[in-house]
Amino acid sequence: MTVRELLVAPVRRALHEGAARWPRLRRIVEIGARELERALHDDLYTEGYYGDAGGARAEQALEIGTAEYTRTATHADEGAYLVWRFLPVRTTLDVGCAFGFFVEAERELGLDARGVDVSQYALDHAALGARGHVRYGNLLHRLPFGRGAFEGVSLFETLEHLPPEVVPRALREVRRMTTGYVIATIPSFGPNEHGPGGWFDVKVRPERLDHYRSLGDDYEGPVAYDDLYRDADGAPVEGHLTIASFGWWTRQFEAAGFVRDGALERRIHPHLARLGLTKYWNLYVFRVPDAPVVTGEQRSASEIADVEKRFGFDERVADPEDLARVEAALGRVAVDQAPRPQTPFDT
Ligand SMILES: C[S@@+](CC[C@H](N)C(=O)[O-])C[C@H]1O[C@@H](n2cnc3c(N)ncnc32)[C@H](O)[C@@H]1O
Repeated sequence: MTVRELLVAPVRRALHEGAARWPRLRRIVEIGARELERALHDDLYTEGYYGDAGGARAEQALEIGTAEYTRTATHADEGAYLVWRFLPVRTTLDVGCAFGFFVEAERELGLDARGVDVSQYALDHAALGARGHVRYGNLLHRLPFGRGAFEGVSLFETLEHLPPEVVPRALREVRRMTTGYVIATIPSFGPNEHGPGGWFDVKVRPERLDHYRSLGDDYEGPVAYDDLYRDADGAPVEGHLTIASFGWWTRQFEAAGFVRDGALERRIHPHLARLGLTKYWNLYVFRVPDAPVVTGEQRSASEIADVEKRFGFDERVADPEDLARVEAALGRVAVDQAPRPQTPFDT
């Protein structure tokens, strides 16, 4: 006999019958069930954090422009496209996947994508195409997969949510997960060797901006907790706890055993501009030392053209400001996107 047959089923039956007979017991069971369910939920990353995504509009919606947490607003198609187009990977893990929009989009592109997040709320409301492929996982503890389970790991707008002191441990866990590559977007400040730099605005409290700007390019952070930009309730905005420079983040990844792939970032930046993402995403790409350096295209010109059309990227008109920032950082760069050369970067 199994434990379920021996123990769970009789206890459940007794509770059911008792709750049917005695209203007071029913109330106790109801409260107990609710509290047990609540125990699984994170305090911050719950309904109010994500705004409209779960259907209920919340007062403290995450501010991502539209206050709606959707596949479009999170730029999940664009993120999935970058992973699919530029990384030589078939199996991927999206850490901080929230509702699984990136996982859903990657799966539509034929990748074997999974996701983990600490938000039980987001996982309970996962996108249809991600259901069954996303699960609870906390980067601060052991993720529920074996060593080297994925060829690629993505972390879109997630690492800044960890306190600085746990970042080394979290990145060691990312390293444990992958045999190949990591793509991450992390709000960062200061100069960037491989693309447009970052800034302090909306990361640091307004009254401390002058101080941080005066520290010059050598200052790497992380910004002191008391100086982090706050929301209306006085908490760090959107749960951003680690605000640091490109140099600081790069060194954290290197210490965890990664090598930054600046050449690949340089190839991707013109596409970020073309897709209107330069102003939103500070890009990092890493590989483990023994993974092959990424060269050439991972997909054929016709596959790329098909996906560009399917996601509507072929209709995009780049923001001139984005283009100017990428050009200022990298010089004149050819967008190697076939078969539609159309931006000022095209030579
Ligand atoms: C700003 S959201 C980004 C979600 C998604 N990647 C995107 O770009 O739209 C940050 C996500 O990180 C998740 N998160 C925060 N701390 C985490 C941790 N320790 N482990 C895993 N996920 C975490 C949150 O629950 C939240 O869904």
